[in-house]
Amino acid sequence: MCGIVGYIGSEQVTPILLDGLARLEYRGYDSAGVSVHTEQGLTVIKSIGRLQSLRDVLSNGQAVSGTSGIGHTRWATHGQPSDENSHPHISQQGRIAVVHNGIIENYRQLKEALQHMGVKFTSETDTEVVAQLIEHYYEGDLLDAVYSAMDRIEGSYALGIMCADEPDRIIAARKDNPLIMAQSDIGSFLASDVTAILKYTRDVLYLDDGEVAVLTRDGISVFNAYRERIYKDPFRIEWEISAAEKGGYEHFMFKEMMEQPEVFRKTIAPRLQNGHVNMSELKLPPDYLKNVGKIYVIACGSAYHAGVVAKYNIEKLVRIPVEAVLASEFRYSSPIVGEGDLVLVISQSGETLDTLAAMREAGRLGARTLAIVNVVGSTIAKEADDVLYTWAGPEIAVATTKAYTAQLAVIYLLTLHLAELAGTIDAKEFAEIVAELDQIPDKIQKILDQKEQLQYFASLYFNNSSIFFIGRNLDYAVCMEGSLKLKEISYIHSEAYAAGELKHGTISLIEDGTLVVALASYEKLFDKLMNNVEEVKARGASVLCMAQEGHREKIEKMSDSAFAIPDCHACLAPSLEVIPLQLFSYYVALIRGCDIDKPRNLAKSVTVE
Ligand code: BG6
Repeated sequence: MCGIVGYIGSEQVTPILLDGLARLEYRGYDSAGVSVHTEQGLTVIKSIGRLQSLRDVLSNGQAVSGTSGIGHTRWATHGQPSDENSHPHISQQGRIAVVHNGIIENYRQLKEALQHMGVKFTSETDTEVVAQLIEHYYEGDLLDAVYSAMDRIEGSYALGIMCADEPDRIIAARKDNPLIMAQSDIGSFLASDVTAILKYTRDVLYLDDGEVAVLTRDGISVFNAYRERIYKDPFRIEWEISAAEKGGYEHFMFKEMMEQPEVFRKTIAPRLQNGHVNMSELKLPPDYLKNVGKIYVIACGSAYHAGVVAKYNIEKLVRIPVEAVLASEFRYSSPIVGEGDLVLVISQSGETLDTLAAMREAGRLGARTLAIVNVVGSTIAKEADDVLYTWAGPEIAVATTKAYTAQLAVIYLLTLHLAELAGTIDAKEFAEIVAELDQIPDKIQKILDQKEQLQYFASLYFNNSSIFFIGRNLDYAVCMEGSLKLKEISYIHSEAYAAGELKHGTISLIEDGTLVVALASYEKLFDKLMNNVEEVKARGASVLCMAQEGHREKIEKMSDSAFAIPDCHACLAPSLEVIPLQLFSYYVALIRGCDIDKPRNLAKSVTVE
């Protein structure tokens, strides 16, 4: 996905665009560019690479003056990172400039048709087609031309559009990709997310699918797909802009890891009162939840891994079948889902297009959808039948940490709620888990306080070229997240493996010095896991083993490196076990000199299919 921003008002626009893009850079950082309305018309400046190189070209915003403009930071989908493929894209006559987040699916056909009419293209992107098409339809009214183009383009888009002949307005249009706008005393803004404009106002407007907005210096008017003027209620953002800043930490990822005790506490506090789980925020009727036939969990990336934890815990405590499915697979697998089924949709951003599309498919097939989302007002949160928010605050680092931890917190509470409704958990175990939930934040803090030990392990193993994570049951679910974290930020090839499956093939890859990270916090299967540790040790592997405090001595004896997490209920262990894995990955990436907050080829949430 990309980040787009726009402003029209009384202030110099270029510094505002650069600042907005800096706050959106976690959405994509292959190239950046701006288009500003100057005396000469539309001035477009763009540059491959990080925003800093654009900042240099623009002498920090002093190079181009004007009071209206649009900007873009790119995550390349069509056409490799280059100056030509950077946004904004400008039309052949130089009349229309466009910034875009999303994918124009029928861009090849449209491009051919326009080329037949003699239009010359300068980039390989899908987006340039939009600029050329709007110019093709332009007859003196930009809004008309935008609507005509929208009738022709298919796919997903959040667009910022300027016209050289209309210096007093900017147009925004949206389908499937997030776009917010805001009015302030210095003018009007558009942006992919609130972080880019929170500095100027807390009241934002969310553009919905098929809607178009006209931004002028005096205000914003919104039109629906039939070009009727509509009124939108502003939405007040509660969190501070400082929450989206590093606050003196070297990396957002480190800051966000350190926030996890507080985030867990904040996410459970409103829902845990005097030993009771309070899910009164749920709109789905208890009867429906009580009689659910089957649960699907759909998500992508780390959110999917939280979904695998949900599968194990709900099946164990609620005794109904749960299937955790990758959203991109669910959508096109003609899933057997319908009336009476519940589809849990997990997403930090609430904008990941694979997850959104899978949720829509589940809804189309008759299932009820319950979203677990971090971004308030996001598309998934708005479109789901019901939503439970994780209160993790803004998460900027591309590799998620605190949002995953908050997702687990909501999953535990929802599992207890469903078990209570189904009557499948006895009062003693229920009280035990509830009591332990309250202790999780302190136990996470205890692990964070031992971060130097993980830093030491990282210094031992940062040079390994291939690493295996092995575990059983919930430990296996955490292995998936640990392995992804390492891959995301250190670029070391690693695999999460069900420990019992290793001997059926993959153990052939274990040789002298191969690092195996063995997770053994799932009490019932501790001994079985220790057998697997013996198996890989016998093939020369180095083993970093993690288990609950009660087994510290044993794992220290049996493995090359050992880390003990505080004792806790098996169902809650993933929240503790993931912390040392996050820290280990962070320190390995740090030693390897990787760009931790903006790993190569990744984006915070992907709003393209
Ligand atoms: C990826 C992010 O793009 O999307 C991952 O890099 C994330 O960290 C995944 O887990 C899913 O994103 P979301 O916002 O739907 O949870």
